Amino acid sequence: MEKKKEIVLSGIRPTGSLHLGNYFGALTNYVKMQEDFDCYFFVADLHSLTTHPDTSELKENVKNVIATMLAAGIDPEKATLYNQSHLQGTAELYLYLNMMAYKGELEKTVTFKEKARQQPDNVNAGLLTYPVLQAADILIHLAKYVPVGKDQEQHLEMTRNFAKRFNHRYGEVFPEPEAFNFNQKLVKIPSLDGEGKMSKSVNENATIYLTDSDELIRKKVMKAKTDSGPTERDSPMPEYIENLFQLMRLVSTQDTLAHFESAYKNCTVRYGDMKKQLAEDMVGFVSPIRNRITEIMEDEAYINKIMAEGAEKANEHASKTMSLVRNAMGLNYF
Ligand code: TYM
Repeated sequence: MEKKKEIVLSGIRPTGSLHLGNYFGALTNYVKMQEDFDCYFFVADLHSLTTHPDTSELKENVKNVIATMLAAGIDPEKATLYNQSHLQGTAELYLYLNMMAYKGELEKTVTFKEKARQQPDNVNAGLLTYPVLQAADILIHLAKYVPVGKDQEQHLEMTRNFAKRFNHRYGEVFPEPEAFNFNQKLVKIPSLDGEGKMSKSVNENATIYLTDSDELIRKKVMKAKTDSGPTERDSPMPEYIENLFQLMRLVSTQDTLAHFESAYKNCTVRYGDMKKQLAEDMVGFVSPIRNRITEIMEDEAYINKIMAEGAEKANEHASKTMSLVRNAMGLNYF
């Protein structure tokens, strides 16, 4: 008998175009994992309501994320691709898991504190219980591995805690899922301004989106923070320069990288040239993906079909977990 494949799940919020952080933190791993695992990938439309209550662009944004997942190489024949609000059981499991989550730990979550600071007029309960909804997404499929960037590590730790508490209280139902990256370490793709990570909400001009035009990519890269260069051999690298090398490692050839690394070492590096090269390599990397996204977005019927089929498969799989959950909790009345 064929060995049952381990289950993988991950999601992305539809709060605008995806960027290189989403691509290298999440999407490249999704594409690799679909070959060997039973994969569920979804668009987190419900999570986006915690920060984006205006839904006038939601449908378009959900379709954009689906198109981007497809453009990145996710094959709907291999992985189940769906939209979060199409999976009915998620809201129910979220309710049950809320009884396993304590106010104190939710208030201490880094992402909650960050968002509460960013939107002081809308510190809603959904924002506070965001990690519980995320745990429901993961546990409803009994997932073992969750490919995400470094910023999601704490949410995974909380998911394991909720799963452990549930299992302890009602009997073993859930595995304890782990954050996953093929390169062993979880990644954080830096922004171009030397401050923090690329992000949909914080720094548009220092973030390269997969839908940016060639011109815009060049403009953003050329504006990246640098200085006048090292004056002593083997000087330690400031973080904003290290970031440029990190981006180069992702999109440039080994030779290009080696050339600029040795130029840095012997103090002959010219950051203007380095950024020009990085910009061209970035354009070469992003433009085919952008063109595929545009092409797929033009075929709305195809995107709708993928979403409908994905919803059916995801619901079928999740309904089995929900029976286990209700039975374990004693909510099976007849
Ligand atoms: P979101 O939509 O912010 O980001 C989607 C994925 O992209 C990764 N990512 C990054 N990785 C490296 N460097 C960066 N600069 C960078 N920026 C973003 C994120 O780590 C993530 O993997 N809470 C999640 C969505 C979610 C989810 C889930 C994820 C909801 N339910 C269940 C996994 C499992 C989020 O906001 O991701």
